[in-house]
Amino acid sequence: MAGQAFVTLATNNNYAKGAMVLGKSLRNHKTSRKLVALIGPRVAETSRAVLRKIYDEVQLVDVLDSGDMAHLAMMKRPDLGVTFTKLHCWTLTHYSKCVFMDADTMVVSNIDELFAREELSAAPDPGWPDCFNSGVFVFQPSYETYRKLLTACMEQGSFDGGDQGVLNSFFSDWATADISRHLPFIYNLSSIAIYTYLPAFKQYGHNAKVVHFLGKLKPWDYVYDATSKSVKGQTSGMQPNYLLQWWDVFSSSVVPLMKEEYSEQPFYTACSEDNSHVEAAQMQLSHPTPSLQISSQERKQRWEQGHADYLGMDSFANIEKKLDSFLK
Ligand code: UDP
Ligand code: GLC
Ligand code: MN
Repeated sequence: MAGQAFVTLATNNNYAKGAMVLGKSLRNHKTSRKLVALIGPRVAETSRAVLRKIYDEVQLVDVLDSGDMAHLAMMKRPDLGVTFTKLHCWTLTHYSKCVFMDADTMVVSNIDELFAREELSAAPDPGWPDCFNSGVFVFQPSYETYRKLLTACMEQGSFDGGDQGVLNSFFSDWATADISRHLPFIYNLSSIAIYTYLPAFKQYGHNAKVVHFLGKLKPWDYVYDATSKSVKGQTSGMQPNYLLQWWDVFSSSVVPLMKEEYSEQPFYTACSEDNSHVEAAQMQLSHPTPSLQISSQERKQRWEQGHADYLGMDSFANIEKKLDSFLK
């Protein structure tokens, strides 16, 4: 149906990898709807080209940041201020109805039936079930709603510093008004719930339709060995089977698109920031190391907090190499 779309967001190259897997998972499960990726200016041209192969529309948007460090600190996720950018999805008024999905989600079966639901439909948040989780939600694009949401952001702010807080305050009758707006949990199954209620996961988990890798550590932070089809290191906090499924989609459906786009040279010699997603894919797939590979963003954060890996990735020799590559 032309008037309906799945929408996601990626403000950097790491989340772009998530968006690639999500888009491919929707295609692999034969969605009949359009796919839209909202991206921020920091997403490299190389990532954009791959996203354009998967998505019908790749739209550049301004990054909105709550800058609300106090509330974000309570969630221990200072990086989530930029999730205000999600609110741009309401401007996609050339669609009559959309389903927003976080870039760290992946579908494991067709979910086109969600378009039968009305705004605002979402599944309960595993941490506070009277709130909905804003990783998957059905909405109706409208400039009026968009304006009201921005006003709410400016006047009341968000109780969690991110989009989920402001959306829950705005659609405040979600918990009580209409049960049809409660999506079953299988449309937004997060690992947290698996660990807090294992028997329920054993009973119902096989019905899962959307897996959400909620939390600080994401699938792209791990190292995958494509030969043995296994993930290196500890998979703490993440259901190993879903993690392997994510990597399976990445290596079988996304990497071929990267290779197709960049044939040999840039794919194998990536060293600039612009190519970081290709570089990471290449490192993670071809040269797996036994330890947990951290993303360049996380590495930067650690560096800024004074925890540089002086003997490893941040060694003087590596810094010098990087500087040389910029000077060339
Ligand atoms: N996001 C992004 N860049 C960021 C942080 C978040 O593009 O630096 C987007 C992305 O779509 C992501 C969503 O905002 O899936 C929500 O963030 P995240 O999934 O990390 O939050 P969680 O679900 O772990 O609470
Ligand atoms: C959450 C949601 C995520 C949202 C974030 C910030 O935990 O999973 O989608 O962006 O909170 O509000
Ligand atoms: Mn998420």
